[in-house]
Amino acid sequence: MAEFHIQQGYTKLFQDRSVEHLKKENLTTTVATETTATEDLDARWQRVVERRSFLKGIGMAGAALSASTLLATEGIAQTSSSTGKLSKGDVALLQFAAWAEIVESDLWTQYAELGGVGPSGGGAAQSSEEFQKFIGGNPAYTLALQNLDGDMPQYITDNTDDELSHAAFLKAFLRSRGEVPVDLEPFRTLPSSQATGARQIKRLTSLMNLNVDLSWYTRYRSGKNPDLGAAFKGPFVIKNQPAIPLNDTDTPPSTNPAIPITGRDAERIQAIANTAGFHFAFIEQGGASLYPTLAFKATDPTVLRILVSIGGVEIDHFGLWHDKGANAVSQPLAGVVDPVTGLTFPDLNNPATELTQTNKILPEPCNFISKSLPRCSVIRPTSTQNGGAVATVKAFTEDGLFIGQSPAFFELSMQLAVAADSVRRGF
Ligand SMILES: [Fe+2]
Ligand SMILES: [Fe+2]
Repeated sequence: MAEFHIQQGYTKLFQDRSVEHLKKENLTTTVATETTATEDLDARWQRVVERRSFLKGIGMAGAALSASTLLATEGIAQTSSSTGKLSKGDVALLQFAAWAEIVESDLWTQYAELGGVGPSGGGAAQSSEEFQKFIGGNPAYTLALQNLDGDMPQYITDNTDDELSHAAFLKAFLRSRGEVPVDLEPFRTLPSSQATGARQIKRLTSLMNLNVDLSWYTRYRSGKNPDLGAAFKGPFVIKNQPAIPLNDTDTPPSTNPAIPITGRDAERIQAIANTAGFHFAFIEQGGASLYPTLAFKATDPTVLRILVSIGGVEIDHFGLWHDKGANAVSQPLAGVVDPVTGLTFPDLNNPATELTQTNKILPEPCNFISKSLPRCSVIRPTSTQNGGAVATVKAFTEDGLFIGQSPAFFELSMQLAVAADSVRRGF
């Protein structure tokens, strides 16, 4: 019926050129369409209810349910299922997500200590942030990060806050269901940076010697998809490079890296900050791919909800960092050379190509599911093989995050990853 009324309205529009008449006619048509659409929706719901009832073999009693009753019933069903014991598969998914979040929290905390908002960081100190107490700030690093974007300290602090909340929530949720959350505390054995701003505590991850895979930069500008066999190279190579200041001798905290970046100390701290800018995006694109692969396998609706909802924030982070990292390879900042490692940050807009242009930060539509289907703008990869738990552990390991970690750490990490990747929906 709704379609009929709309069609009738269009016919009138073409038949009658009187503006006043058109307005009146449109109004009548709109009201009539909305009323009919509501009636139509109710009728459709009834048909859905009938069909569901028929399928469930509960007869005509179900067919009498209104749409609101049906929704309420489903709400109750979801609530009751959200207090029961989780399947082994769902536990494995959440435990791996917790592993990833604890790792993320550790590395982001290091970034926040040195480059987040705080007494020495950029912008006003945020006394309300619960982790304000441990943010010292490294002035040179913060200034260099602010060459990528003036708001970098705030973004770093907020990303850290998000990861801490992800880890705490997942652990608490697992506990609330009688499950044991992941404990990585015994593996906090790695040294801190000696630079001004860093707390002298033991860490789970190292940010001092990274190989930052930049293939995501090309992948998201390409119409091809790794899940359909495509392979990508980054636009340049970041290898054996620190992403945080190592000590005050290497990068004096009083250094002022003003653009154009000149002089050994300014170049060094800027190269380190630029590396961080790309590392932020590398980490978060990993999260953006991991969560969909985990979500596909979830059985309990609440577990699915958790994975989809946290995953969305990883994607949000990635989009932000993609933009900020790209500022290191566009003017006026492009061209910085690290005086220690020789790493060069090229100008990727000279020449700007489809796969390098720095402001092409939104995903290009790509092959998805089948090359015979139209290209679609999606997160990729989302296959277990390319974006799953094992792929994540491997990528983080190759990144250099776990340099110095014990064999027991890798064993536990791979155990959790294999368990998560092996989950099949419904078990
Ligand atoms: Fe996270
Ligand atoms: Fe994240």
